Amino acid sequence: MLPTYQETAGRLLLCPSILSADFAALGDAMDQVATAADIVHIDVMDGHFVPNLTIGPPVVASLGRRTKLPLDVHLMVEQPINWIEPFAGSGADSLVVHAEACVHLLRCLQMIRDVGCTPGVAINPGTPLTAIEEALPYVDMVLLMTVNPGFGGQQFIPTMTDKIRRLRQRLDDLDRPIHLQIDGGVYLGNIRELYQAGANMIVVGQAVYGQPDPAAALRALRACAV
Ligand code: DX5
Ligand code: ZN
Repeated sequence: MLPTYQETAGRLLLCPSILSADFAALGDAMDQVATAADIVHIDVMDGHFVPNLTIGPPVVASLGRRTKLPLDVHLMVEQPINWIEPFAGSGADSLVVHAEACVHLLRCLQMIRDVGCTPGVAINPGTPLTAIEEALPYVDMVLLMTVNPGFGGQQFIPTMTDKIRRLRQRLDDLDRPIHLQIDGGVYLGNIRELYQAGANMIVVGQAVYGQPDPAAALRALRACAV
């Protein structure tokens, strides 16, 4: 499980995305962020829901043996319901499914809670916030994609800043406010504005693993944001 929004009191949680790391040296990538990151973000892609392929449960299990940080698994796959048990068994702390990929979204989210992981729901940039309205009571985090998913190193879509603001307002109105995670195109130049807009859990790929010193990059991002 990840710490809840209440437990972290809205503090900035930085989540380096291993998609931008060297896949031949993922163990080193864990060590590089061990003291500067809050959560490790793992992008699982199936070549159908998004036009790219990444990793499966055995790699997640290996990463878990190498780091004490929580593992946040972002499932960019069709039929995510088939992958909940395998990734929970591999030590995932949170499992985030796309609303666009789930025919029975609430069943999927309940299954994630039943296997002991933190449930999250994600939406693509073109999907309206209304698509997740009915899911809010069942999740501990909402992930707003701020690029079209599939690849690291893309440009932040500017209209997403207002979407973050609108979602944060909605989440603050809940009896139990929850995490707002954003993913894609975050760097030193926009992290402050996006944190202020209400994203408290921020995924960073290129801006961390594309840099010579990932830990220093994380410290710089944190200093810039708060
Ligand atoms: C995109 C992935 C992201 C990506 C973010 O499909 O979900 O996690 O790695 O990378 P940057 O920060 O480089 O945009
Ligand atoms: Zn992601």
